Amino acid sequence: MVVQASLEGEAYFPSDDVMEQAFVRDWEALARFADEDLEGFWAREASELEWYQPWERVLDDSQAPFFKWFVGAKVNIVQNALDRHMTTWRKNKLALIWVGEKGDVRTYSYFELYREVCQFANLLRAMGVQKGDRVTIYMPRIPEIVTAMLACARIGAIHSVVYGGFSVDALQGRVDDSHSRVVITADGGWMNGKLVELKKTVDDAIKRCPSVETVIVIQHTGQEVWIEPGRDYWYHELKQLRITNGACTPQEMDSEDPLYILYTSGTTGTPKAILHTHGGYMVGVYSTLKYVFELNDMDRWWCTADPGWVTGHSYLVYGPLLLGATTFMYEGAPTYPYPDRWWSLVEKYGISVFYTAPTAIRGLMRFGESWPKRRDLSSLRLLGSVGEPINPEAWRWYHSVIGGQRCPIMDTWWQTETGCFMITPTPVVPLKPGSASRPFFGQRAEILDEHGNPVPDGEEGYMVLTRPWPAMMRTIYQDDERFIQQYWSKYPGKYMTGDSAKRDTDGYFWVIGRVDDVIKVSGYRLGTAEIESALVSHPAVAEAAAIGLPHDIKGQAIHVYCILRADYTPSQELMEELRQHVGMHLGPIAKPEKITFMDALPKTRSGKIMRRLLKARAQGLADGDISTLEE
Ligand code: WTA
Repeated sequence: MVVQASLEGEAYFPSDDVMEQAFVRDWEALARFADEDLEGFWAREASELEWYQPWERVLDDSQAPFFKWFVGAKVNIVQNALDRHMTTWRKNKLALIWVGEKGDVRTYSYFELYREVCQFANLLRAMGVQKGDRVTIYMPRIPEIVTAMLACARIGAIHSVVYGGFSVDALQGRVDDSHSRVVITADGGWMNGKLVELKKTVDDAIKRCPSVETVIVIQHTGQEVWIEPGRDYWYHELKQLRITNGACTPQEMDSEDPLYILYTSGTTGTPKAILHTHGGYMVGVYSTLKYVFELNDMDRWWCTADPGWVTGHSYLVYGPLLLGATTFMYEGAPTYPYPDRWWSLVEKYGISVFYTAPTAIRGLMRFGESWPKRRDLSSLRLLGSVGEPINPEAWRWYHSVIGGQRCPIMDTWWQTETGCFMITPTPVVPLKPGSASRPFFGQRAEILDEHGNPVPDGEEGYMVLTRPWPAMMRTIYQDDERFIQQYWSKYPGKYMTGDSAKRDTDGYFWVIGRVDDVIKVSGYRLGTAEIESALVSHPAVAEAAAIGLPHDIKGQAIHVYCILRADYTPSQELMEELRQHVGMHLGPIAKPEKITFMDALPKTRSGKIMRRLLKARAQGLADGDISTLEE
């Protein structure tokens, strides 16, 4: 790729090689088609997949914002991710290559993965799990997290994956809210050379979750764990039972039936369960991965995300399998035992398309070029970025040191709520470092001011999406009210992303960051409310306010302001104790970077903490509008 100047600012144009290999060379033409015939575009995408029964209507918008896609169709996403490949040569193609942090390796062909999923699904069915039941999955990054998710979906159960880095309170809240009857976990996992005690966390969390009847435990680390008689079962023992044998017919699902819920932090209060469906989600994920990363049968795809987050759901588990691609999955930390662990895996397994987060790039950049330079990274042909804006410096390093100047970087903007990429280039689109470029086929985005008027190009405003898409969230599980209130009420008829952004004169979008109470720490999405409630559960804390401040590697870091109760005095020890407390309750990723003790917090007259003001002051910026500040 070469830098040229026919677009405003720094731009990288696709090389002849990239253009030649691309399967959609005329981006403009496809974009025009999808824009003019939204339903036609998505119907064509959907028809590349298998349906038990075709749809009567592509889109039903009569009850917007409760949009319905592929109305009347019957389908099962797992049938498309696995069974569909059983009648082709892909049956014996590698579906999954897995490497543990300790160096153990496991591989699964499509047939092997299909068998594992059938066994697991048979087991869940035998245990009485039915269509619509919720199952919580709390696991390390091991193959069984994939088979557990697919087994649930196969029988129509709704999976709710909770990130294995979360701790007791976070897990308990999510199990309880979803009323899960079954929890699937592992004895433990490996991260950075350390044992993570997952089963122990489950034991503590479900003490207060009356809905849980059964816990299935995968043996992974071999550490000793408590097995509660009548409640907990080792998976490898259950697998010996005859009930797991034989084929497992997938449940025929309505296109709009729930596939999963995934909890994510929003504007206020507790995390909310974003709900996705079998039909539309399947089509959205399939189509975006196909067009943006153009996976083919020669590729080995590595998405470094954890299945506990939406990126793992869409682009580690479902997307690549829907496309019949070979997915690579690694259990551990990028720097364990040395900072070239990831690059050594790219070299050894011939990874050709690599998708990660800016925070990881920045983290690895700091060890210098010599680590990646010692590895042969010539198998790579395409790179990807997700989770937060990528700063141009990291972009250039990624592009030159990892991608050898030859691999275009697909900076994909999307959210748990959107289910799939929304603003993203494809390999033929000229790239500008730091911009996710333009909306995906069929999508439109706008930048609005406070009153809903479009702002001029180059000015910052609220980013909204204005057309429905198949993989859009359908609601917040059991809370339609909040769904409307949070996403569709500020600008009626438009989906509020919660991000601020600018559009430049070339039509490229530049996302700046969240405008709500979401903090993105190393790409992980956390809510101020969760952090604050973990803090006030400590006896020393009367009140707390959390904000995100810029951080060189993490993107944002959590800073906390606390008012102590009368009998406590500020000290270094107390600060450390509070950090540990948050880590214990919520998870290590939520530990505050810094805690400042205060006598009072700035509040509005109606009693809301003015985090915006704390943020401005911490960065030495102007206060902004403080007319609502309490005296
Ligand atoms: C941010 C992750 C800039 C954004 C898939 C969004 C990004 C939030 C990008 C959603 C990107 C994600 N450029 N910002 N390429 N991708 N974001 O739900 O603020 O964990 O609203 O989904 O991440 O985070 P979530």
